Amino acid sequence: PEFADENSPTKRVGGDITDKFQKYEHKFPMLSLSNTYSIEEIEEWEERVHKTLERKVEYTLELKYDGVAISITYENGKLTRAVTRGDGSVGEIVTTNVRTIRTIPLELRSGEYPSTFEIRGEIFLPLKAFQELNEERERQGEATYANPRNTASGTLKSKDSGDVAKRKLDCFLYGIYEDNKRFSSHFEAVETSKKWGFKTPETKLNYFQKASSIDEIKDFIEYWSIERNNLPFEIDGIVIKVNDYNDQEILGMTAKSPR
Ligand code: IVH
Repeated sequence: PEFADENSPTKRVGGDITDKFQKYEHKFPMLSLSNTYSIEEIEEWEERVHKTLERKVEYTLELKYDGVAISITYENGKLTRAVTRGDGSVGEIVTTNVRTIRTIPLELRSGEYPSTFEIRGEIFLPLKAFQELNEERERQGEATYANPRNTASGTLKSKDSGDVAKRKLDCFLYGIYEDNKRFSSHFEAVETSKKWGFKTPETKLNYFQKASSIDEIKDFIEYWSIERNNLPFEIDGIVIKVNDYNDQEILGMTAKSPR
């Protein structure tokens, strides 16, 4: 017993089962993204960004995963808390359930990670797991689920982490939040967190890349408008971010989302 480790892989499942999930106030609010369906609006936005910053701007292009947002805290390399988005200011603690997701490390590989930080991403149910689940439910004469997103969201709120463990949820992590900003850009932060053991969006599969022109942005949109049909998970768009953290700060925020 003296060698028992709460983060041993054998302890992924288990822990308190309660009626309600405890609320938790986010240290860094979980914001929204402003959206558009128009290429002209994207061109206008890109021009505005360019004009405000008065220099060459670097962007990141990524997929918009259709799942459930999660914020996970690591302290001294160990997963200590996982909180849902909630209303963006206050979420619910779902640590016990999140610990069952195999691709989320309970303990980080050695590396130069901050002693305390939050990493954010999207929990989703891959299409194959969703189809298999519904096939099984059909065999059992049970009602099938409508879509992977709602199934992922319902599963994350399950009262039994053993049930969550069976569901094959997955997670892409796409953002680091910490007090002492050690990174100068979003791309650098995400790519470095991959080395600590996180599953981050694949650059090799074009899930995540840098861009420096409107043409590259348009190419990415065009590519994924077709290729989204061949992905093993669902997306509900693509996300364009200004890569440099200083640039992000200069651009500031609207009421709910970064400019
Ligand atoms: S960034 C300031 N990146 O979209 C926004 N969000 O509307 C920080 N989402 O709650 C989030 N894929 O659940 C970001 N590649 C991605 C995303 C992504 C999906 C979701 C996320 C968030 C919502 C924002």
